[in-house]
Amino acid sequence: MQLNLTFLVFAAILINSSQCLRILTVFFSPGMSHYILGSKLVKGLLNAGHEVTMISPFEMKDVPKNGTLKDIVLTELSEQFQNSRTTNNMFNIGDQGLIDMIKMMTKMFVDYSNNTIHHPKVQKLLKSNQKFDLVIQEQFNNDGLKAFAHFYNCPLITLSSMGPNAWVNPTVGNPQPVSYAPHLLLGDFSKDLSFINRAKNLFMFFADYLLTTLYVLPSHEEYMLQAFPNSPPISELYTNVSLVLLNSHTSIYPALPIVPNMVEIGGYFIDPPKKLPKELQEYLDNAKDGVVYFSMGSNLRSKDMASERKQLIVNVLGKLKEKVLWKFEEDLPGTPANIMIQTWLPQQDVLAHPSIKLFITHGGLLSTTETIYHGVPVLAIPVFGDQDSNADRAVASGFGLKLSYNDPNFTEQSLAEKINELLRNPKYKENAKLRSNLFHDRPMTPMETAVYWVEYVARHRGAPHLSVAGKNLPWYKYFMVDVLGAILLIVLSVLWFITFVFEKVFFRNREQQRKRSKKQKTN
Ligand SMILES: *[C@@H]1O[C@H](CO)[C@@H](O)[C@H](O)[C@H]1NC(C)=O
Ligand SMILES: *[C@@H]1O[C@H](CO)[C@@H](O)[C@H](O)[C@H]1NC(C)=O
Ligand SMILES: *[C@@H]1O[C@H](CO)[C@@H](O)[C@H](O)[C@H]1NC(C)=O
Ligand SMILES: *[C@@H]1O[C@H](CO)[C@@H](O)[C@H](O)[C@H]1NC(C)=O
Repeated sequence: MQLNLTFLVFAAILINSSQCLRILTVFFSPGMSHYILGSKLVKGLLNAGHEVTMISPFEMKDVPKNGTLKDIVLTELSEQFQNSRTTNNMFNIGDQGLIDMIKMMTKMFVDYSNNTIHHPKVQKLLKSNQKFDLVIQEQFNNDGLKAFAHFYNCPLITLSSMGPNAWVNPTVGNPQPVSYAPHLLLGDFSKDLSFINRAKNLFMFFADYLLTTLYVLPSHEEYMLQAFPNSPPISELYTNVSLVLLNSHTSIYPALPIVPNMVEIGGYFIDPPKKLPKELQEYLDNAKDGVVYFSMGSNLRSKDMASERKQLIVNVLGKLKEKVLWKFEEDLPGTPANIMIQTWLPQQDVLAHPSIKLFITHGGLLSTTETIYHGVPVLAIPVFGDQDSNADRAVASGFGLKLSYNDPNFTEQSLAEKINELLRNPKYKENAKLRSNLFHDRPMTPMETAVYWVEYVARHRGAPHLSVAGKNLPWYKYFMVDVLGAILLIVLSVLWFITFVFEKVFFRNREQQRKRSKKQKTN
């Protein structure tokens, strides 16, 4: 009887723990693409029946029926971002000096993280007695927010919007072979591992390391310790990460090593295509020569483009025999007949339509992933951030071409040449299809993989067995500088000793010979 009861209680605990996890997610970024990545993961966890408390600047739409969502919406953060967007035209970000840009970005991320912690709704949550089994947050210049996992004394899972990179690798001790793993601000140079490219890469990693340890992390530690005075130093929380979910996959990123607690879930945010609105469906169905789809994403608004640039693009697109579907936020007077403008378009469903021949994009990661999912070639017009390296990867993988927004050679001629090359040369479509096949060929869907590993970490209480020992080693031990230094010292000492002995022996012999010969001469 006693045994039975123990068994029942045990079974109940087991069932309970496998059924429903209490998860806190902190997605602080007011950037729409970051919110999409966070909220899609939360939706996957809700569909799996979990109880999620989500802190973010936006309210979730289409909340799944399964699971329980407590949506803590920090509207002020998204408003702050909107206001900063009206004062700073995003198309001009590339014009700033490097140092100013780094300072501006760091301050921005510190502010948004700090404002997240200090928001009255979050303070109320922290003061309530709510308990959590897991904390999930983005890893994106927000390391001070890692204090949440410490506060709730539970494992931390981070989500990286990119593949293995310099901002996430050190948190789990992931190796970064600088000879071929490109820094996130450099493009894919795997086809040209020349001295100069590897040297540039080394410089970027080194500069990034110095910047992170000397400037970025201390900036985040400041507000973290203000808000959580009992928290350990940020250097300790920085690497206390149970699992990293990477929004990458070998079909999207070059192959790179990953430690056992890094899991690739690239493209998990993409839903299977849905039916298009009737008007759009007919438009695409009836396009005999195909359609070029043009969108600069959610952050860059087409209407912020310089007006000569708009005119230049309209001139080029107007001459195509293909139709053009352009996501544009305002009316363009005098648009040529083949161009249709819409303020919003269901991008994934549009890309799924067989009439789409080309996607002209800013090269954001979500758009680049969606285009791979559907096997559509791209012309990337990168403006800032990781867009340039995403564009380089599309070029390296042979399914796209790049024409930077700030390229001095952005002319009618160069734009038209690139578009025509992409439309007329079949190799781009073939390569895009090849990438698409690789994307879909996986044992589990990326969302199933994500949910499985989140539950795995909870089941195994943080799964510390997955962490490599190297993550907490200081650099001179990690790179064996101490051991190699000691070996070098020993080798040098032995060499010195041998030289010393030889010198002594020969020197003495020679001395003696000389003395002898002197004696003979004098004799
Ligand atoms: C919701 O939960 C039910 C019962 O557990 C399950 O059958 C169904 O597949 C779930 N829905 C989704 C969208 O996962
Ligand atoms: C590190 O994470 C584990 C859970 O994975 C937790 O138990 C521990 O308290 C954390 N350490 C610190 C210093 O927060
Ligand atoms: C964080 O926000 C609080 C409250 O708004 C403010 O008092 C504090 O100075 C901020 N800290 C930093 C480092 O910006
Ligand atoms: C500019 O573009 C034209 C047309 O594509 C090309 O022929 C030329 O080489 C480019 N010039 C530079 C400096 O890239």
